[in-house]
Amino acid sequence: MLKVTVMVSGGGTNLQAILDAIADGTVTNAEVVRVISNSTKAYALERAKKAGIPTACITRKQYPDPEQFDEALLALLEESGANLIVLAGCLVVIPQCVVDAFPNRIINIHPALIPSFCGTGYYGLKVHEQALARGVKVTGATVHFVDGGTDTGPILLQKAVEVKQGDTPQILQRRVMEQAEWVILPKAIDLIANDKVRVTDGTVSILD
Ligand code: GRF
Repeated sequence: MLKVTVMVSGGGTNLQAILDAIADGTVTNAEVVRVISNSTKAYALERAKKAGIPTACITRKQYPDPEQFDEALLALLEESGANLIVLAGCLVVIPQCVVDAFPNRIINIHPALIPSFCGTGYYGLKVHEQALARGVKVTGATVHFVDGGTDTGPILLQKAVEVKQGDTPQILQRRVMEQAEWVILPKAIDLIANDKVRVTDGTVSILD
């Protein structure tokens, strides 16, 4: 059974999609063992509590020295027993020591088709604002492994979503979540939990 620790910062709809997919059997061989937030106010923590999952909160503000935060986060993740860390709307930049401790064992959901609209500064609504400003007709979401860069790791799954005339960033964000994020993030966990994913030279292949 794959032990999954989910890191969150906000509303936690992606966390909910994971919990629902495990509950209804869409995701097999996986359990969420811990939810870690960098904000005490994240509604995702309520979702975790409702599902009976232990939670923890850790913020950079608690640690005067950035390295102390990095080490404390690593200790928390190791102590959770995670085989897989899922960044589900997590705004923490993952420290290198954590990336090194969990090689190809951290995945992130990004609300665009990488390599478009990604990298430093592209998070939350900003991604959709930029997609609309550029006038793209198709956007989507990407699940990728986390390496030392920002949104640069091997791409695991992507799903396209249509941009419609008159979309606002909020409307587009919602459509990308409903049609893409909530589908491909649980699917990625299921593939990893069932040993269907291989990473070779920075690219991912999925076994039948
Ligand atoms: C999602 O759009 C996710 O892709 C992005 O932040 C949003 C978080 O949503 N990184 P939620 O907290 O899962 O509801």
